[in-house]
Amino acid sequence: MARFGFFGEALPDIDLEELKGRLIVLEGTDGVGRSTHIGLLKQWLENNGHAVLDTGMTRSALAGKRLKQAKEGHTLGGITMSLFYATDFADRLENEIIPALRAGFIVLTDRYIYSLMARAVVRGADPEWLREVYGFALKPDAIFYLRVKIDDLVTRVLQSTGFDYWESGMDLHMGDDMYESFVSYQKWLLAEFDKMVENYGFQVVDASGTIEEVFEDLRSRVERAVAKNGRHVCLSLSFHFGKQSTRGLRMVDEEIGPADKLRDKLQQDMAVMPVAQLILQQL
Ligand SMILES: Nc1ncnc2c1ncn2[C@@H]1O[C@H](COP(=O)(O)OP(=O)(O)OP(=O)(O)O)[C@@H](O)[C@H]1O
Ligand SMILES: [Mg+2]
Repeated sequence: MARFGFFGEALPDIDLEELKGRLIVLEGTDGVGRSTHIGLLKQWLENNGHAVLDTGMTRSALAGKRLKQAKEGHTLGGITMSLFYATDFADRLENEIIPALRAGFIVLTDRYIYSLMARAVVRGADPEWLREVYGFALKPDAIFYLRVKIDDLVTRVLQSTGFDYWESGMDLHMGDDMYESFVSYQKWLLAEFDKMVENYGFQVVDASGTIEEVFEDLRSRVERAVAKNGRHVCLSLSFHFGKQSTRGLRMVDEEIGPADKLRDKLQQDMAVMPVAQLILQQL
């Protein structure tokens, strides 16, 4: 059975059985540390022999550049912005994320449909309509919601990039003061994220510690998410019959779990084919 599923109406012509990778989402409000941790996780996963794709908003070939340009003018309306982001996401899903999952990559994505829905809801969009718009999204393996209290967030943002027009929700016209608008807007987003925790199965990660502390927590969670359902193992079998030998490849997709379970599995195969030579390769 395929591990992945769509939230609603499926993207056409996608065979879910083919998707062997892992889809891991980092969510959280602006400036909470997503980029920092995606960078650290990517490095750690690659050092452990995994192929990793990292992706995030406005990086699509189809809509990324135009979306950034459209935001420069500070005139983009809520619905147009939502649909522009949905287009950017759809293009990345179809042309980056799904191909990478097919090739067995671990995909680390900086935000997913949840941020897009939260931002659209605070701009007046109907949550039911949004769920339909994003029905084509794949359900991720794990969603890590990096959470800090608003006061810590303000300090962190002040110490790094400062307040940005969109990250302060200035388009919502809550007032002329960027600091006050940032606080109100980010509090609103936090409340929307908090509402999604249960519905969408977020794992809440306390992001108020140091970068090292937060990373340590995330690393062990990602380790579990990657190991979930066991490893996909490719068994390469060589059968020797006298002078003849044949080679067979078999995918073992079901849960294998820890090494002793894998050994049992192999012993069953060896019992059937006593002269089989087994070469294991982790995908
Ligand atoms: N746990 C932490 N403690 C203190 N500072 C942190 C922590 N995590 C990240 N930072 C700092 O906060 C700033 C914002 O981090 P980062 O750019 O990773 O956040 P982000 O969520 O990707 O932000 P954006 O929404 O702007 O993309 C950076 O200067 C980073 O070094
Ligand atoms: Mg970032």
